[in-house]
Amino acid sequence: MHSKLQIINCRSKSLFLILSILFVGSSVSRAAEAPRIVEKGGRHALMVDGAPFLVLGAQINNSSSWASTLPEVWPALKDMHANTVEAPVYWEQLEASPGNFDFSTVDMLVQRTRENHMHLVVLWFGTWKNGNMHYVPQWVKTDIKKYPRVINQAGEPIDVLSANSRANLEADKHAFTALMHHLAEIDSTEHTVIFVQVENESGIIGSPRDFSLSSNREFESKIPADLLRAAGKSPGTWREVFGGDADEVFQAYYQARYINEVAEAGKREFNIPLYCNVWLSYPIAELPERQVGNPGIGWPSGGPVQRLLWLWKALAPALDVIGPDIYSDDLGFYTNVLKTYATAGNALWIPETGNSDAYASYLFLALNYGAIGFSPFGVDHTGWTFSEGEGPKLHSENFALLEPISREIARLNFEGKLKAAVDAPGQAEQELDFGKWKASVRFGFPQPDGRHAPGTPAHTGRALVAQLSSDEFLVTGIDASVAFHTEGRLPGLRMQILSAEEGTFENGVWKTSRLWNGDQTDRGLAFRKHIRTVVKIHLGTF
Ligand code: DGJ
Repeated sequence: MHSKLQIINCRSKSLFLILSILFVGSSVSRAAEAPRIVEKGGRHALMVDGAPFLVLGAQINNSSSWASTLPEVWPALKDMHANTVEAPVYWEQLEASPGNFDFSTVDMLVQRTRENHMHLVVLWFGTWKNGNMHYVPQWVKTDIKKYPRVINQAGEPIDVLSANSRANLEADKHAFTALMHHLAEIDSTEHTVIFVQVENESGIIGSPRDFSLSSNREFESKIPADLLRAAGKSPGTWREVFGGDADEVFQAYYQARYINEVAEAGKREFNIPLYCNVWLSYPIAELPERQVGNPGIGWPSGGPVQRLLWLWKALAPALDVIGPDIYSDDLGFYTNVLKTYATAGNALWIPETGNSDAYASYLFLALNYGAIGFSPFGVDHTGWTFSEGEGPKLHSENFALLEPISREIARLNFEGKLKAAVDAPGQAEQELDFGKWKASVRFGFPQPDGRHAPGTPAHTGRALVAQLSSDEFLVTGIDASVAFHTEGRLPGLRMQILSAEEGTFENGVWKTSRLWNGDQTDRGLAFRKHIRTVVKIHLGTF
């Protein structure tokens, strides 16, 4: 495999950039540990440089990974206090003619990410992008005989490559392998790249499955044994076993195997974490303008949607993670998606979500379910905007607050010691249970004595509490107060605050800047709006 790739790489014009990247990397005396996903007792961490890392990410717009637009990217990411950029690599640009790879964009992304002291998530826009094939090279688009399309129910080829084609799979695999090989060449010392997304929101828009003659033949035969095992079903044809879901399950089976093979080949070149992102299936009520709830129309058929996660986890083991792109700000829907993807042996990773204020508190919600990272979409200063809002204002506030303590948050969350609360209608007062200690969270100010907390006007209040030792907690939040008490007793009864230190962690060591007391602590630790503070509180009983 390597020798073949070396031949390919001879034609790459990026030798100079490779050397300069390796030179920048040479200031690091020893190789950093490769990133990896670890699991303990059902909880997950993304290890970066040997320790849990919280991805405070931002995904740039689809057409922003170009030399002409990247200068508009970095200031936006800085404004957002992101520690990681997610940027696409386009197959059509990487391999504009068969077997000739141009890695200049990849090199530039890695180099600029380093210069900006961030990490990089590479997004492979290959066979699939949002349930279509828009990023495949022209030589694939124009040779429909060699690279077959999905055939819809009316017998028409559509704008999606077939997952049931070996030629399609081999072409994508070849390109992805070259990409991963190149990343290994330029990044196995520094590990700027911490995650690679294989394809983008895979699936078919325009048909529930491929209705080509060969796919129809497969569809009429018995279900393959690996799928039966994963589904825990008895043998039969697709229709007999999966009834009305048969088309979507059929598509998912071939798609999961296709992407798994691409991922597996890439991983052999460079063993770093790989994931797939998901265009979710939204209930009609969530997106009324779509008015549709069918695979292939409402969402790309065959992708790892909520109810097919089991299939993908079983049939695509080369993917470390499956991450939902969440574009509904409905609290109930958001919570269900987090719960779904946080289970089934899957690390919770949100590779895309809305960048408006309505989504900001969901970072805290995601942390509550053990998230390893969270990344609003469409962050750069190119002027393009996907959302109607003012951009990631409250997301920036979150990232600025959490970035300095993000390593500690990732570690404490991995150890199961972190809980978070977000404001919601009728839920301005909530309780986080840490056993001996309970933390009462109250959202919104003012909080006059004898009155319930008012809540925050747009339900943007958020709070986070992590246990450091039996009587010590790290506490932060925005537009929230946090008061501690013991079981069945009000705050202040037979318990006291021994110290409440405002400060932060520097290189893993806590640094106190002042002690809080009086009005800042008497009615709970008060985290007022737009003030970024973290407090370490030491409690005692008497
Ligand atoms: C989800 C896709 O994955 C992104 O690439 C982008 O198209 C966004 N939707 C918003 O359009």
